Amino acid sequence: MNIPSRLEAKKRTSKEVLTKTNEYIVDNNLKTLGEGKTYFIKTYGCQMNEHDSENIKAILEDMSFTECDEMEKADLILLNTCAIRENAHNKVFGMIGRIKHLKETRPEVIAGICGCMAQEEGVVNEILTNYKWLDIVFGTHNIYALPNILATSMKNNKQEIDVLSIEGDIIENIPVKRDSKYKAWVNIMYGCDKFCTYCIVPYTRGKQRSREPEYIIKEVLDLVNSGYKEVTLLGQNVNAYGKDLDTNYGMANLLEDVAKTGIDRVRFVTSHPWDFNDEMIDVIKKYDNIMPYIHLPLQSGSDRILKLMGRRYTKESYLELFNKLKTIPNVSITTDIIVGFPGETEEDFNETLDVVNICKYDSAFTFIFSPREGTPAAKMEDNVTLEEKNNRLYRLNDLINKYAKEANDKYLNKTVPVLIEGKSEKGGLLMGYTDTMKLVNVNAPKSNIGKIVNVKITDIKTWSMDGEIVK
Ligand code: 5AD
Ligand code: SF4
Repeated sequence: MNIPSRLEAKKRTSKEVLTKTNEYIVDNNLKTLGEGKTYFIKTYGCQMNEHDSENIKAILEDMSFTECDEMEKADLILLNTCAIRENAHNKVFGMIGRIKHLKETRPEVIAGICGCMAQEEGVVNEILTNYKWLDIVFGTHNIYALPNILATSMKNNKQEIDVLSIEGDIIENIPVKRDSKYKAWVNIMYGCDKFCTYCIVPYTRGKQRSREPEYIIKEVLDLVNSGYKEVTLLGQNVNAYGKDLDTNYGMANLLEDVAKTGIDRVRFVTSHPWDFNDEMIDVIKKYDNIMPYIHLPLQSGSDRILKLMGRRYTKESYLELFNKLKTIPNVSITTDIIVGFPGETEEDFNETLDVVNICKYDSAFTFIFSPREGTPAAKMEDNVTLEEKNNRLYRLNDLINKYAKEANDKYLNKTVPVLIEGKSEKGGLLMGYTDTMKLVNVNAPKSNIGKIVNVKITDIKTWSMDGEIVK
């Protein structure tokens, strides 16, 4: 049993990170462990978790499990969890309660949790005391070890907890079962060294480790050859890509090399304003297949709060960068904002509204500050009432929605390229995204799925648009 330690997770060692291409091995006798059994995975949180689940699915299928989309019928249930805010955490514990019920009628069901919550010392201690019936717990650093963890728990018929506090080397041979045949997530780096004071990610995902460019380019070339149209380069702070490698090769170089593979669309998330350099902006402008869409988290518009958050930029320098990005033709820019950070005054909040009024974002994810155990901000004195926080969120969302609608309105009657991904939730329609990441519902035959088509926008909603294909 390995259980996580917050103190260890915080440490940043200078130990060299190696790339290993032989760490993921499934013993022959484990290849049939899942024969006749089904699995169900529920994924919470960000794209990184979505992509981890794609790896987990492939590993389970390597062990002969087959996928099942109904939790109630599955033989193995895994929750791939998110720790970013309290409500994500609560949702997982709610689901664990449902699984407990299920186990009462079907005790043979194997249940486990993985992902970011599994990296939290407090969560694992709670599982050890109150959730002894959960069969497996593994973390974000040892997904490749799942076959052995699962086999040990099944063989001994007891709880198996295997969570490493400190990240290991980069494992390159983990298989993947991608959710889409047209767009793919590609990790370019793991972890984060920024330690924003509110954020738990540097503890749950470990220190920043960039993948070697050769492996990334090879993965993208393979995707091109398999007919993929879009890749999204993933990292907690992609602009810092390469800073931990022993070369001068950075995000601008990587973006350029990925663009040169000829894939139709290249995206990247998430950017930290601190590391966004002019070279990157030049590369984005130079290549038509790098999409004009940038997610640039603001978090707060108040210099005082930004300092308390440890964000390393000011309102002024953020706006300076924003204006530079706006020189990218047709660019759409979205953001993340936290309200109610400890001690945030009405004045501080007004500074945030001021930035929103200047930037007129295409859209934004907005959150109420959620104290995360072990982070510096969780210990800061918080005298803002919940009522006030809700009120600020409401006012902020009002403004964000207004600008989102205004940004969308500009698309009416325009013809834009859309990658048609599949069926829309709206009956009978197809759905896809523009180059600028706008969701479009299209009335068109299914034969268009997987293609980039020209769509004339006929109607605008706040969060989506309707359109029809034009030749
Ligand atoms: N409370 C509220 N929001 C948070 N985020 C990260 N940590 C917290 C927290 N403790 C938000 C940030 C980040 C996004 C992914 O989640 O806005 O950019
Ligand atoms: Fe968290 Fe992003 Fe800050 Fe890293 S850069 S600590 S992931 S908010």
